Amino acid sequence: MSEIKIIKEAKAMQEISEFLRLSGKKIGFVPTMGYLHSGHISLIKKAKEECDIVIVSIYVNPTQFLKDEDFETYPRDFDADYLSCKNENVDYIFNPDNIEMYKRNHMTNIMISNISNKLEGEIRPGHFIGVATVVLKLFNITKPHVSYFGQKDAQQCIVIKRLVEDLNVDIKIETCETIREDNGLAKSSRNVYLSENEKNNAAALFKSLSIGKSLVLQGINDPDSVILEMSKIIKEEIPNAEIQYISVTDNELLNNIDELNNYKGEVLISLAVKTEKTRLIDNVLFSKN
Ligand code: PAF
Repeated sequence: MSEIKIIKEAKAMQEISEFLRLSGKKIGFVPTMGYLHSGHISLIKKAKEECDIVIVSIYVNPTQFLKDEDFETYPRDFDADYLSCKNENVDYIFNPDNIEMYKRNHMTNIMISNISNKLEGEIRPGHFIGVATVVLKLFNITKPHVSYFGQKDAQQCIVIKRLVEDLNVDIKIETCETIREDNGLAKSSRNVYLSENEKNNAAALFKSLSIGKSLVLQGINDPDSVILEMSKIIKEEIPNAEIQYISVTDNELLNNIDELNNYKGEVLISLAVKTEKTRLIDNVLFSKN
């Protein structure tokens, strides 16, 4: 087993990736902000299964946080991440600092219009500009054939797929299923902010999403009644929950579905809920014929 290599410089990473490509290796890339959990590990495992070389980036990207958000306090533990990557036989960790990523005078930003301003983008204006820009930079630095993203961040997956399609980026995007705690809570680095009690209560999110999905599949036509049922469950089970949105949309343009009975295709039910200390997002994606 060869030793995992930590690369800090973009140019060095590019040269390694170029060499690997020229040697005929298939590169899989898992972008992360670190504090790795079993959701990330499932992406790494998939990349290991499908590719010759796996690169994981660990970089808390400041440009995707709003001014009053948790950039400074976002959980970080490089040593633990290193060990997790080592256990999975990751080949390279790309771990740049902010100066390496944004030098001085960084001026170029990627804006994916329309879908970036909905749902998460409406509540976190500018977030997806930060995400799309850093992800394109990471793609250009690591030069992967395939990159892996978690379905938990459904809108991020849609934004990245659109970026790749619109800008002819020659990378396959794979979306992998959300990994959950036993009670249904979606794994997230930010779950560390939750108390045990909040974690237990947060099971209500997946419960409400599952009920929302079954109502749609049972043939309810009006999405508002689905949303109402879902809100009731969350409000009953999470005291002081602030529901920021619950939406029933398609999975490409994030357009609201007005009449479910006339709709065929993928249905995305997504939500964001603020509890005492943190914001949780989650979703279910399913087909409707
Ligand atoms: O999903 C994340 O962790 C981040 O948004 C990403 C894709 C690593 C970009 O910073």
